[in-house]
Parts: sequence; structure tokens; C-alpha cells
Amino acid sequence: MTLLTCRIDEGIACVTLDNPPVNALSAAVRRALWDMAETLDADPDVRAVVLTCAGRTFIAGADVREFGQPPVEPHLPDVVARLEGAAKPWVAAIHGAALGGGLEVAMGCRFRVAAPTARVGLPEVSLGIVPGASGTVRTPRLVGMAAAVDLVTSGRHWPAAKALEAGLLDAVLEGDLTEAAMGFARRALEEDLPDPVSARPLSPMPEEFWTEARKMAARAGHAAPLAALDCLRCASEAPFAEAMAKERETFLTLRPSPEAQALRHVFFAERAAPRPAALKDVAPRALQRVGVIGGGTMGAGIAAACREAGLEVVLIERDDAALVRGLAAVEAIFDGAMARGKLSQADRAARSDGLSGSTGYDRLAEADLVIEAVFEDAAVKRAVFAELGRHCRADAVLATNTSYLDPRSLTEGVPHPERMLGLHFFSPAHVMKLLEIVPLPETAPEVLATGFALARALGKMPVQAGICEGFIGNRILKRTRAEAEQLVRRGVPLAQVDAAMRAYGFRMGPFEAQDLGGLDIAFLQREGARADGQDVPETLGDLLVRAGRKGQKTGGGWYDYAEGDRRPQVSPTVEALLAPHVAAADPLPPEAIAAALVGAMAAEGQALLAEGIAQAPADIDLVKIHGYGFPRWKGGPMFAAALEMPSI
Ligand code: 3HC
Ligand code: NAI
Repeated sequence: MTLLTCRIDEGIACVTLDNPPVNALSAAVRRALWDMAETLDADPDVRAVVLTCAGRTFIAGADVREFGQPPVEPHLPDVVARLEGAAKPWVAAIHGAALGGGLEVAMGCRFRVAAPTARVGLPEVSLGIVPGASGTVRTPRLVGMAAAVDLVTSGRHWPAAKALEAGLLDAVLEGDLTEAAMGFARRALEEDLPDPVSARPLSPMPEEFWTEARKMAARAGHAAPLAALDCLRCASEAPFAEAMAKERETFLTLRPSPEAQALRHVFFAERAAPRPAALKDVAPRALQRVGVIGGGTMGAGIAAACREAGLEVVLIERDDAALVRGLAAVEAIFDGAMARGKLSQADRAARSDGLSGSTGYDRLAEADLVIEAVFEDAAVKRAVFAELGRHCRADAVLATNTSYLDPRSLTEGVPHPERMLGLHFFSPAHVMKLLEIVPLPETAPEVLATGFALARALGKMPVQAGICEGFIGNRILKRTRAEAEQLVRRGVPLAQVDAAMRAYGFRMGPFEAQDLGGLDIAFLQREGARADGQDVPETLGDLLVRAGRKGQKTGGGWYDYAEGDRRPQVSPTVEALLAPHVAAADPLPPEAIAAALVGAMAAEGQALLAEGIAQAPADIDLVKIHGYGFPRWKGGPMFAAALEMPSI
């Protein structure tokens, strides 16, 4: 296939790159760009060059699939320099996204123009690396250091309007982008050309600027943003060539690092998850109207998420008072989004317009999908599904959000079992990205595909799970908590366990997290199992709940909390309660604590794979990252275990 095509129109060459799916800068593309610059420089008919891309986007960056291999010439910084040094000025015409190396190529061009819907960014830090082809050196020369620090260390994309205002773009052009860019090039030739970006001045910044910037960059928890900051600083304090050399060296050092490998693993896992290969040729059922049963914590969040995706929602509650509460909870989520500037007044009103409620099931006759989120009580849920069986269309997908119950027993006897599905959302459901999708044995492929289509519409990260108590995530959570208690029993202070997991990258340790969520839910579940005659050994958490310590909501759980203060304080009461069950103090290095807990997660993950509950190690990693706060830059427990990182 021809990667680059060129047509010349009245002295302006229009070069189009076509390297599906995202025009990544493979070695062949780099070579083709280099050769094209040579050819056009030598062509007397050409006065300027417009670079456009075919397909959904401008160049999305370096080809991440090549990152595991030795670099091949021509290297990208040289290609960017070649375009900048071309005898004929190049104009980058950006549609879709110009990211990473794609933006660097654009910065090598003399001008950058974009469609109004375009985005630009340097997302390298989210892959554990720094820009490797002048992103840290050219960007501040275009937008100033403060804006460059924001763009490079956050990895965020800027919309075209913001990029124009900042000086990263020269123009945003309406209409046909290629034609508009050709016109732009013609007009540009009528005036003196601006300096190439590398020749533009850049002043050093005061020490306080860097101190503040370091504080912000350190929040990410991994090395790349801080390394990028060092490169940016060098760009403002050293000559261009020296700064380029430092950036390249940093890029090449970070590229094979465990963090970068982990982030690449997550990058590809996240892209594969929403479209499983097994469902490639299966068309999902259409989704327009959704019923949500139960307007409590989960139901309200699920309803809000569905409205955000433009689906009409009918919320069903058991009585008028609960319905008023449930609808108010959904409206409060809309209000919150508006207060944070994420929703305009008009869009806020539209969200409400598509939401209605009822205490009866008649309104569900038109629903394409119904998600049950009532109390975690099998009898209540069974009664709900019996009603759904009577009122819903035969082809409506019926889903349960149960955390632990067996979906088969909840839906038994309801006609058309092929339409049943588990859809396990995480709290708060309008925020958390993870969605476990649980097919029943009878679930039809198109119903399973509908679950994945819903996830895509909602912007969630779907992972298929088999049926077992707790599915993938909560089963691993249970094992992790047991391991954490085991460490406490052998004498490791619980505050040390939490501190070690924070040092590993979690926002909270396992005991702090239980205090936040409440110890009583898991306790009640264990008590239920005991009442059913199962042999469930007494946990340390049970001792606390029996003593009235259910977490922050009761003023204390594993820790004490002062009134109105969420900071955990080591609790003498808990120490006394646990004393008979805990060995003499036996501190463990933080790395060994993290190794024990991450090892427990990976071991449970292996068991889930062996049982066929989880389909792939990467799925387990996504569950832990998107549902349980596992640090992305460690890649998830399965990746971390496989890599045998020193810390686990
Ligand atoms: N390299 C290789 N493959 C890539 C890629 C890249 N940079 N970016 C995307 N892809 C692949 C995906 O894996 C996916 O492959 P698949 O179809 O086989 O699953 C396919 O392209 C489509 O990707 P998406 O599903 O993400 O498509 P979207 O349309 O939703 O999004 C996008 C398009 C916004 C461009 C998004 O793909 C994206 O953000 N890509 C990553 C961009 C990035 O991180 N660039 C920086 C790379 S590092 C770099 O440039 C270093 C330089 O400084 C030297
Ligand atoms: P909740 O107690 O906050 O809400 C349950 C709601 O269901 C209440 O508003 C109640 O009035 C309503 N309800 C009860 N019986 C009903 C009936 N027959 N018809 C209509 N409405 C009825 O409970 P929560 O936390 O929202 O949990 C709901 C489900 O989601 C449970 O199965 C739970 O296991 C699951 N879940 C909970 C998570 C959490 O973190 N809270 C996370 C993931 C799943």
C-alpha cells in the first residue's frame, strides 16, 4: 500500500498520509516522510506543502507496537528536523487528533492549521515515557513554559480552540480542511515566513515555578511526568541541541522501563476490552429506552450514567416516597455535573427531560434493557424478575446488578432466559469505569454483545466475568482482605499495611478503604453464609463490627476518626480488641507487604483463570485498575506478577 500520496495544485503540494487505523509513525512512515521532503524540495513546481491524513485522524503518534523493538532509522527527531529544514514550508492540516509524535511532526512544520473538532496533545507520560521527538523542546517555544508544562506533564488533549489561543495552532479552519489548508498555504507565501519553531526564543523560569511544577507532577505517582519536567526545564536553560539530546536520552531510558511496559500493556488491554474478538460478528440489540429498578446508591448512579449516554430512563421504585428520593438522587448528580461546569443549563434540562419514574411496571413495556438494582436480597430480586417477565418485551434484555448472588437463581423461571445478563456496576456508578458483564449459560450472543455495546455507550471499561461469588473483582478483594488480616495476625501493624499499599501506588490501603466503604456489608454477607450453614471462619473485621465499629460512618472501624475529620488515627480500642489474635509486633518492609498483597491478588486471579471465570490475565488487570484503584503504572496484579518486578 502507498503510505504517502501527493498531488500538486498551482504550486501547493498536498501530501496525504494513509496508514490505518490511526496513521501511527511506523519506520516505513518515517522513511516515506523523509523521502517526500527530499522529493518536494527538489521539485521546482512546488512552493509549499500541505500535510493531511486519510481516515479518522491526523497522526496519533509513534507506533506504540514498535516500542519493544530496537529503534530503526530515520529516527523521528530527525524526520521532524528534516521537515522543519525543508526548503518549501510545510503546513500540517490536522483533523481528529494530533498526538505525541503526530504533534511533534506538526511542530516541525512551519504552520499548523486544524479543523474545529480537532484535538492535540502529548500523551507520552500516560505511556510512561516523555515525548521523544522535541515535544518538550519545541512546545514551550510555541506556547510558553507554563502552558507547555501543563500539556506535557498531564498528557491531556487540548481542543482546537484552546490550542489556537495558546499559540500551538496558527488557524482553525471551517469547511473542507484540505482545501482550506491549501488556501492558507497560498496566503502564507505572500508574506515573510515565521521563524522555524526551533529558532524561537525561550526564557528561563524562576526556581519557584519549578518547585510548584514538581509538586504537581509528583501527584501522578510515577516517574514519567517528573522526567518530562526535567526535560522542559533543560529546554529553557540549555541550547536547543543539548535539550534535544537530553529529551532523547530520557525517552530511550524510560521506554523499556517496567512502568512504561506496564502502561503499554494497559493501553492495549483497554483498547481490546470493549470489542471482544468472540463477538466480532455479533450485532448487539438496539438500545434507546432503559428501565432501572431501585433508585438507591447504585440505581441512581446507573440512571445518571444512562442519561449521560443519551438513553431514556424510567426509574422504578417500590413506593412514592422512595421514588421521590431516587429521582432526587439522580437530579443531584446532574446538578453536581453542572456545578463542576461539565453540563450547560440546556443540557442539564435535557437530562431531566429524558428521566421519568414510576411505582408500577407498565412503563417498562417499551424498554429495550432493564437493569435491576434493588436490595441485595434474593427473594426481593426474584420478585422483581417475575414482574419483568410479565411486563417486558420478549426481546428486552433483563440484567441484574447483584454483587454476590447467583444471577441464575434470580431469574429462574422467567420466560426467554436467553435475554438475561449480569451487569455489575461499581459505586459511584456514574463515575467508576468498570463494568463486569456476566453472561448466564443461556444468554444469547447478541445479548452479551448488547452488554458490551452499553459499556461503550456509557464510556465504561467492560470485562466479561463468569458466575461465582463476587465475580472477578470482589472475589479478589475478599482474598486480598484475608491476606491483609493475615499480615496483621502475624504482627504487622495495620497502619504499616496501609502505608505500604499507598507507597505501592494505591490511594488508600485495604483497611482505610474498608473504613470508608463500611465493614458491615461484607460482615452481613459472611453472617448470611454462616446462617446457611457454611463454615466461614471469624475474621478480625467481624470482631470490629460486633463491637459496633463499622467504619467512618460510626466514628471508627480499623481506625478512630475525630468528628468531621476523615484522617485515620491509630486506635487503642482496636489494638485492645485485636490483641488476643495478634502475634508480637513484627514489622515487615513495605516492599514485602506489597508483595504479599499483590501476590494474593495474582494468585486469586490465577484461580479465576483456571476456573474459567476470567478469560484473560489482562481482563483481571483492568478489573483491578478500573474498579479497585490498582496503580495503572504497575499494570495490574497479573502483569506485575508476570514481570516479576522487584516490588512483588
Ligand atoms: N500506535 C499503535 N497503535 C495505535 C496507536 C499508536 N500510537 N494509537 C492507537 N492505536 C491502535 C489501537 O490499538 C487500536 O487498534 P485495534 O483496532 O487493533 O484495537 C486502533 O489503533 C484504534 O485505536 P482506538 O480504539 O483508541 O481508536 P479511537 O478512534 O477511539 O481513538 C486515538 C483514536 C485518539 C488516536 C487513540 O487511539 C489514542 O489516543 N491513541 C494513542 C495516542 C498516543 O498515545 N500517542 C503517543 C504515542 S507515543 C509517541 O508518540 C512518542 C513520540 O513522542 C516519539
Ligand atoms: P440501596 O439500598 O442503596 O438501594 C436499593 C433500592 O432499591 C432502594 O432505594 C429501595 O427502595 C429499592 N427497592 C427495594 N426493593 C424494591 C422493589 N421491589 N422494587 C423497586 N425498588 C426496590 O442499595 P444499593 O447499594 O444501591 O445496591 C443495589 C444493588 O446493587 C444490590 O444488589 C447491591 O449488591 C448491588 N451493588 C452495590 C454496590 C455498592 O457499592 N453499593 C456496588 C455494586 C453492586
